[in-house]
Amino acid sequence: MNGLPPLSSRAMGRISATRLASTLGQWHRGGPRSGGHDLADALATRIRDGRLPPGTRLPSERELAVALGVSRTMIGAALERLRDAGLVVSRQGSGSWTAAPPGVRPPDAGLPGGAGPIDLTRASPGAADGLLPAFEAARRALREALRDETYDDLGIAPLRERIAARYTARGLPTAPSEIMITNGAHHGFALALRLLAGPGDRVLVEEPGYPHAFDAVTAARGHLVPVPVDPFAASGWDVEGIAATLRQTAPRLAYLMTDFHNPTGRTMGAGDRERLGAALAATRTHAVVDETAVDLGLGGEEPDGGGPASGPPPLAAFAPRWTITVGSPAKTHWGGLRIGWIRASEELIGRLGEVRASLDLGSPLFEQLWLSGLLSDPGPVLGPRRRELRGRRDTLVASVRAELPDWSFRPPDGGVNLWCRLPEPVGSRLAGAARQHGVLLTPGARFGVRDGLERWLRLPFTQPPERLREAVRRIAAARAGLVAP
Ligand SMILES: Cc1ncc(COP(=O)(O)O)c(C=O)c1O
Repeated sequence: MNGLPPLSSRAMGRISATRLASTLGQWHRGGPRSGGHDLADALATRIRDGRLPPGTRLPSERELAVALGVSRTMIGAALERLRDAGLVVSRQGSGSWTAAPPGVRPPDAGLPGGAGPIDLTRASPGAADGLLPAFEAARRALREALRDETYDDLGIAPLRERIAARYTARGLPTAPSEIMITNGAHHGFALALRLLAGPGDRVLVEEPGYPHAFDAVTAARGHLVPVPVDPFAASGWDVEGIAATLRQTAPRLAYLMTDFHNPTGRTMGAGDRERLGAALAATRTHAVVDETAVDLGLGGEEPDGGGPASGPPPLAAFAPRWTITVGSPAKTHWGGLRIGWIRASEELIGRLGEVRASLDLGSPLFEQLWLSGLLSDPGPVLGPRRRELRGRRDTLVASVRAELPDWSFRPPDGGVNLWCRLPEPVGSRLAGAARQHGVLLTPGARFGVRDGLERWLRLPFTQPPERLREAVRRIAAARAGLVAP
């Protein structure tokens, strides 16, 4: 055991076989003979980038074989490779632990300024100003609400009305009965997944894409079918390619982020939305469209007040019967609210409600009142939020250009991330090295279905400008210290 800090307290100690299997996702790349090799590679990536910190006790070979559905021989071969690479140590009769990658030393005690590490693994801005006055208003509204029913299946009416009105203003006529309040956007996706896809079903996802969505599909024993999103091409999405994938692989569900894509920050053009909507309808494929970042357009053309997003109409406007849109205030206001919503046809909302009833019976009333107040006048929160993120994006863009001039990226149209292409395939190693310099990073591989995005790194710009500048300086130092692969 060396003294490296764990990536998070949850990652410390031991990891269960099921958790490890879920962390590994779709690790198997080649044919039946490459299993041990592929498994060792997938584990090595996670040890190097800090997802499996040094000193993590691994499950037994037998448990791992069961969880991954492979032979013990394959597990043994993978561990043997990792031992040879110095990434795992095993003790007869006691088990196996991850080890620090060779050449990695524990960080010197204390970082400059005595501060803790700069955490760029989370892409969530802090709580917006304006939350507390709305909290007080919600407290007053609670008096009235306490007289009403305790449970409200779809969520409170004023909140659903406000959310529906914003869709209507964006070109997607929506009634409050087409809105269900959830416990976050991710909850909405999990419900749709439960309703529409079962074990063994294919789910089309974007690559790079949102890792927690991948995890949800893998945990539901679905198969991920990736389609690329290109950060540099004139259009981020190859809609003809997606249409062909829909026809050829017949996924039960697609998961898309048209506004704004995580992690590339791209937005889909109106023509592409129309063609994609037609392809979904023609193949009768349901799609979840995750619009968590829709109100974070950073092009400068966004209204500085709280008006709805000014881009093309939502994808749902082009395939209303097939589309389930999920949204939340997690990025615009605060992730701690744990409230979100689903927008879908009344028929689908009814079916989603039935699925939900086996899991939970609605979302907390007080938080709904709080969000309802915030959405009654979104300007005071949204305007400053967009301005702040625009400034932070510009700071990060300038810092990366200055410190890492051979990295390439396309400044994002919106959202909270800069998706960077490195000249060399060292994303996971760089994430490991950056930890030594006091910066926690999520390597690009985490945004891929299989660990194929080693040339990429996601840098969120949710922290204050001076921390972003310092983070980039440290990443540049870490990178300079990396030996050639
Ligand atoms: C694309 C995307 N979807 C969903 C979420 C989670 O949203 P919520 O906190 O509302 O569940 C995030 C948060 O980072 C996200 O980036």
